[in-house]
Amino acid sequence: MPQVSSKEFGKVQGKPVELYTLTNDSGAKAEIITLGGTLVSLYMPDKNGKLDDIVLGFGNLEQYLTDSPYFGANIGRAANRIAGGKFTLEGSEYQLAVNNGPNALHGGEEGFNMKIWDAEGYTSGDSACLKLTYTSPDGEENYPGEMNVEAVYSLTGSNELKIDFNASCDKTTIVNLTHHSYFNLAGHNSGKIYDHNLKIEADQYTPVDENMIPTGQLKPVEGTFLDFRSPKRIGEDAEEAAKEYTSGFDHNFALNKPENEYGLAASVYDPKSGRKMDVYTDQPGLQFYAANFVENLKGKQGALYNPHCGLCLEPQKFPNAINIPSFASPVLKKGEIYKHSISYSFSTE
Ligand code: GLA
Repeated sequence: MPQVSSKEFGKVQGKPVELYTLTNDSGAKAEIITLGGTLVSLYMPDKNGKLDDIVLGFGNLEQYLTDSPYFGANIGRAANRIAGGKFTLEGSEYQLAVNNGPNALHGGEEGFNMKIWDAEGYTSGDSACLKLTYTSPDGEENYPGEMNVEAVYSLTGSNELKIDFNASCDKTTIVNLTHHSYFNLAGHNSGKIYDHNLKIEADQYTPVDENMIPTGQLKPVEGTFLDFRSPKRIGEDAEEAAKEYTSGFDHNFALNKPENEYGLAASVYDPKSGRKMDVYTDQPGLQFYAANFVENLKGKQGALYNPHCGLCLEPQKFPNAINIPSFASPVLKKGEIYKHSISYSFSTE
C-alpha cells in the first residue's frame, strides 16, 4: 500500500512548514516540504535494489530560506529569465524585480519557491500523492491578477514522480511554471555528474546573448557541444560549455515533439548505479543546467556541494518568451486554465 505521512520541518515567522513523506509499495520515497513544494529528498533503487537519495537538498529550513539555489523547488510565476524584468500586456507595462544581472529570474525576490503552500496528502491506486495549493495575490512580485495555482505530486507504484501543475488568474497575466530539482543519480553526495549519459530529444536550441537572453533564433545542435541527440557523457564537452556566456551547460533546448503534446524530453543514465531517469513534459522547452553556480554549499547529511554535482532538467516555455513573439506565449488570459505535467520516471539498467 502507498503511504503518506507528515511532520513539522520548521517554522517561518511562527507559521509551520510541514514535511510530507510519500512512499510507494517498493519503498521508493519522496519528501516534500510545504515551502515552495520543495522536493527535499528522493529515494530510488539502484541496479541492486539499494535505495539512495538522488536529489540535492538541505537538512534544515533555514538554508532553504537563505542559501538555496532553488534546490528542489517549484518555480513561478515565470521561470527563467525575462530581459530587464519588463513586459507589456494589453497595453500596460510591467516591471518585475531585477534579481539576476539585468534580468528577472524565477519569479522574483520571493517567487513561489519561497511561499508556504497549503497541502493535502492522500493515496490513489498505487500512488502516494500530495496536492499543494497557493493563492498569489494581485500584484505579487508585480505580476497582474490574483492567481490560484496547484501542484499535485504523485509517486506511482512504478517509480515515477509526477508533478501536475495548473493555474488560473482573474486578470490576463503570464505564467511559466517548472520544477528545479538537482539530480545526481549516483546519490546526492557523489560529486560531479560528468559520468552521467544524457540524451535530449531536441534538434535545436535557443542561443543566448551575453545576458543569457535568447536572441530569438533557433539553431541546430548538430556540430555543437549541445548535441545530445544520442546519449553522451556530460563531461565530454563540459570544457567547451564552460567557455560560453553560460559558464557551463545552462541552455534551453527546443524539444522535437509538437508543442503541448506530452512526450519524452530527456533521458539520463548513470552507469555506476544503473539508475536511469526519463523526463516527460507537455512544454516546448527544456532547460538543462549543470549546477555551474553551486559552490561550497553544506547539504543534508554532511554533504558538500560544488559545481556540477547535480543536473537540473526543467521543462518550461522558452526564456523571455513574453518578449519574443516567435516563441510559444506564456500569456494566460482571464478565465483560461494553464496546465503543465512533468514526469521524472525512474528505472535501472
Ligand atoms: C536556472 C538558470 C541558471 C541558474 C539556476 C539557479 O537553471 O538557468 O542560470 O540561475 O536556475 O541557480
